[in-house]
Amino acid sequence: MLKIENLHVSVENKEILKGVNLEIKKGEKVFILGPNGSGKTTLALSIMGHPMYRITKGKILFEEEDITNLNTSERAKRGMFLCMQNPIEVEGVSLMSLIYNSLKNVDYEKIEEIIEEIGLNKNFILRDLNVGLSGGEKKRLEILQLAIFKPKLAILDEFDSGLDVDSLKGVCKAINKLFDKKRSFLIITHYTRILKYIEPTKVKIMINGRIVAEGRKNLAKKIEKIGYKEFLLV
Ligand SMILES: Nc1ncnc2c1ncn2[C@@H]1O[C@H](COP(=O)(O)OP(=O)(O)OP(=O)(O)O)[C@@H](O)[C@H]1O
Ligand SMILES: [Mg+2]
Repeated sequence: MLKIENLHVSVENKEILKGVNLEIKKGEKVFILGPNGSGKTTLALSIMGHPMYRITKGKILFEEEDITNLNTSERAKRGMFLCMQNPIEVEGVSLMSLIYNSLKNVDYEKIEEIIEEIGLNKNFILRDLNVGLSGGEKKRLEILQLAIFKPKLAILDEFDSGLDVDSLKGVCKAINKLFDKKRSFLIITHYTRILKYIEPTKVKIMINGRIVAEGRKNLAKKIEKIGYKEFLLV
């Protein structure tokens, strides 16, 4: 599904990603953990083609196509989607109009079902996107979009942060329904509490712009116990 080769990314002439290699196969759920500022969000935004994040070396392949130079909308059309760590407020555009303009067939009953599951107010999809919503509500609205658009590759940048226990449960349930052999997930998180709901195929550790270790569920549990100090020495 996704292959990243030796990716170097700079922001404002500062190199943030220093040679990232990452492969996600169809059906895989890959977790990325790492300290604050290690480059996880930069990786997520670079995969989606954020114009501020300049790729200086390396490439990104999506379903074997080189998408390194495609713009964000082209990537989205191919089936890539990002749930943002800090969703932005968009005045004048409701989620409803976004859905209406993006999808050919809209199943409104299904949408209502998901809204209920995630525990959102129905009015939220009629209001300007994210405007005036609480942090947790914005996060849940991101997951609602994910569940509606059902991308081939979903990148979730700390979807779990800021969610209360009940919201987390509802959101994870909605995410779980999307899992199948054809869809892939890149899940960036700081917390092992989501391991209760989502079983990772692989767990990767990112430090200082590189992926320095790979393992399974146990690696995430180990990090929770001892932190990153063992990897900082590498
Ligand atoms: N638009 C930007 N302008 C300036 N610096 C940036 C920008 N985006 C990222 N950086 C810098 O790049 C580094 C990596 O940031 P990034 O947001 O990718 O970290 P992160 O791993 O997602 O951290 P966190 O766990 O706190 O979300 C940080 O030092 C950050 O200050
Ligand atoms: Mg981040």
